[in-house]
Parts: sequence; C-alpha cells; structure tokens
Amino acid sequence: MAAGKGTRMKSALPKVLHRLGGRALLEHVIDCARGVSARQMVVITGHEADVVEEFLSQRAVPGLRCVRQMPQLGTGHAVQQAVPVLSDDGITLVLSGDVPLTEAETLRRLLEACLHPSGPCLALLTLDMPDPTGYGRIVRSPDGAVQAIVEQRDASEAQRAITEIYSGIMAVPTRLLRGWLGRLDNHNAQQEYYLTDVVKLAVADGTPVRAHRIADAVQVAGVNSPAQLAELERAYQLRCAHALMAQGVRLADPARLDVRGVLQCGQDVEIDVNCVFQGRVVLEDGVRIGPHCVIANAHIGQGSVIQAMTHIDGERAGVTVGQHAAIGPFARLRPGAQLGREVHIGNFVEVKNSTLADGAKANHLAYLGDATVGERVNYGAGAITANYDGANKHRTVIEADVHVGSNSVLVAPVTLGAGGTVGAGSVVTKDAPPQALTVVRGKTVTVPGWVRPQKKK
Ligand code: UD1
Ligand code: CA
Repeated sequence: MAAGKGTRMKSALPKVLHRLGGRALLEHVIDCARGVSARQMVVITGHEADVVEEFLSQRAVPGLRCVRQMPQLGTGHAVQQAVPVLSDDGITLVLSGDVPLTEAETLRRLLEACLHPSGPCLALLTLDMPDPTGYGRIVRSPDGAVQAIVEQRDASEAQRAITEIYSGIMAVPTRLLRGWLGRLDNHNAQQEYYLTDVVKLAVADGTPVRAHRIADAVQVAGVNSPAQLAELERAYQLRCAHALMAQGVRLADPARLDVRGVLQCGQDVEIDVNCVFQGRVVLEDGVRIGPHCVIANAHIGQGSVIQAMTHIDGERAGVTVGQHAAIGPFARLRPGAQLGREVHIGNFVEVKNSTLADGAKANHLAYLGDATVGERVNYGAGAITANYDGANKHRTVIEADVHVGSNSVLVAPVTLGAGGTVGAGSVVTKDAPPQALTVVRGKTVTVPGWVRPQKKK
C-alpha cells in the first residue's frame, strides 16, 4: 500500500519515497517482499501516483506492477484495487509502504501461521508497545482469541489501554480476502474502508485469526512524521553498525556511523567516528578510515588509509584507490579518479576523471582534472591542470617520473615527457620534452643600487 498522502510528513514528496538509509521507504518494503520470493508484487499507488510509478519504473523490479487507487478511501479500499490482479490460489501478504524494516524471516513466519496445518487462516503481525498511541489495537476475547482490530480514533477508553498493536502487515488466503473486501463499509470515525475490518468478518465466518506476535519494535515501526523517520533512521544505522562489527569491522562508535547504501568490508577494517558511506562502497582488508569522511561509490584497496575530513564521491564513474595509498586529510576525489598503488593525495587536493599510476604523489593544494599521470610523478603544491577552455575539456598527460613544480599551470591539451621537470610557477602551453627542465616564466632581473621612490618634501 503506497497510495496514502502521508499528511503528517508535511512534505511535497510522497511519503513512501522519503529515504531511510539512503533508499526510499518503498524500496525497503519491496526488498522485504523479494526476500520471501513473492510470485507477484503489486504496488498500490494513488497520491502522486505518477511520481511513485516513475520512481519504480526506473528500478525495473521483476514481477512488480502498479495499480491505482483513486481516490484514496482507506486501506481496505486500497487492497480492493489490487485483488483483481491476484490469483485465487495464492496467499496475499499485505505490506505498508511506510513500514520499512520488517525482516524477511518474520514474514516467512507469518506465512507459516497463515498456512496452518489445521486450515488456512488470517494471520496478523502484532507487537506489544508500551505507548501504542496511533496504532490499531488487537481486541481479544477473554479466552485470548483475536476478535477485531480497532483503530485509535474508533477505540473506547478501555480499548485504548490495550498495548498489543497491529503492525499493518497481514497474510491471508487471497480467495478469503476477496470475499471479505467486498463486504467492508466505511462506518467509522474517518469514514474510510479499513482493511483491518476483515478481522471482524473472519471471526463472523468462523475463520481462525492468528496473531504472530514479535518483540522487535523496529520491524513494525511505521513512518508517519519526520520525527519517526529520524528515529527509525538511527535504529537502522545501529543495525548496520552491529552487522559490520559482527563481521569484524572495528567502529570507533557504532552510534556515529551512517551507511546510506551498501558497505562491503574486508578483514581488519577500522572506521573512526562520523563517517558517511553512500551508494556502493568497498573497503578491502586493512583499510583505515579517519573521522568525518564522506565516501560514495568507491573501491578502496587493501591497506590504504583515508585520513580525516576526506570527501570521495564516485557518482556514476566511480573512484578506485589502489593498495597502500594515503589519502587526505581534507582530500577530494571525484568521479573517474583512479589511483594506483601507494599513491599519495594530500590536503586540499582535488582529483577528477584522472588516472594516477603507482607511487604518484600530489600532496598539497592542487587540481588534477582529465589527466593521465605516470608512475612516481611528483605533482607540486598549487599545481593546476587547466583542462577546460570554456567549451571543451582536454587531457593532460604527465609521463612517469616527472616533477611538476609548485604553482604551475598545465594548459591542456599538453604532454610532459618522462623524467622531465617543470620549474615552479610555469604556465605550460606546449609539450615539454622528456628528461629536461622546462621553465615558462619571466627571467629574474636584479638592478644593483636601485633607489626606491622618495616622498617629495
Ligand atoms: C494502519 C492500520 C493500523 C496499524 C498501522 C500500522 C488501517 C485502517 N489501520 O494505520 O491498524 O496499526 O497501519 O502502521 O489499516 N494507504 C493507501 N490508501 C489509502 C490509505 C492508506 O494506500 O487510502 C497506505 C498508506 O500509503 C500507507 C499504508 O496504507 O503506506 C498505511 O496507511 P496509514 O494512513 O499510514 O495508516 P495508519 O493510520 O498508520
Ligand atoms: Ca502508518
């Protein structure tokens, strides 16, 4: 169900597209459904349906289709739109687009409860909550049998005191669901067709209702407001941190880590505080990440050290750092930076769409854009590739063992031959020959005995 407005988010973005751990709430829910190998997935869209459907079509999930709910008359009405495309012989698992962190194992258990040997039933995922405000309450008879789900706004004082809540997730034989949905009404406080009313209908029909009660509140927590989203984000991050530590990753503080994508780590990886990982990041064995680094879409080779405050963003082209490299502090690696073994990139150095071969160094205050840099090149402080002429980008080729003097400007396209040296402060517009010193700047002029101008008396 992803058709609701999400009024309490107070946002123009549909609620189910808000991000948790770098992915939309809806993506988490879809992954969950994939985890139980759903035969078919139906997303019910409605509010901002175009936006949600466009988002899904970009992800091309196999076996997924959308149906529209227009207008949105409640969760029961939402599921009514989906049943025509479901086959009668299956089990329908109803998930909420705003309940993102349910585990596949939990859903498997719920499906087992639904397919009970004593006959098919309606299975509800429930939980005891110290503060159940806002959730539907599970009403049981004195013998413990589930009788109904009562929404907060329809509940009596006594019912509001019930702490067992409905998670928004149920499993039910499709054939039974179809029958019950046709009998729903909207005689309630919100004048909506509640999916939760199928419980009463099941009870009336003599179909057993089973509650599969779990203890992990994170798995059923719904996102209705920015505060709940932030709270769940922390819970999710803590989960990621513990999973990493279980693999042997050493985190300075599990509460100060943010993984907004997939972080894959080798053995003996250490991560200091306040690092953010986005997209796909691989840290090979023995990598150390200093505090306050932001690393996105990058592959960091074995034994490399990324020092404090470094920003690496590979975006589409990716960033690769070879083995035993030293990056930072305060370095910036942009898309297409490909660094070899033992490359050093120091403070305030920016590298974009450039290849640096093994042992190359750019230690201070420099820019390398669209450059091919050979082995052991030393790229001096303040050196710049002028790669953009205002219309097109051009390449700079710096062959092996070149030393580029401080504050040089390499005006691309230009090639510096192997083993050559460029004198500090040169503006290089022509190719420099190998094994020679190239200096492009004014000659030193000294005027002996020169007298400074004096103030007139
Ligand atoms: C719902 C349940 C409540 C449960 C809670 C758990 C009902 C009536 N109530 O309440 O018992 O405790 O979830 O989180 O089901 N949606 C549609 N179409 C609509 C209305 C909603 O697709 O017409 C979607 C929303 O986008 C959302 C989900 O259904 O993904 C739940 O809707 P929401 O309004 O958040 O229901 P709750 O009030 O949280
Ligand atoms: Ca909700």
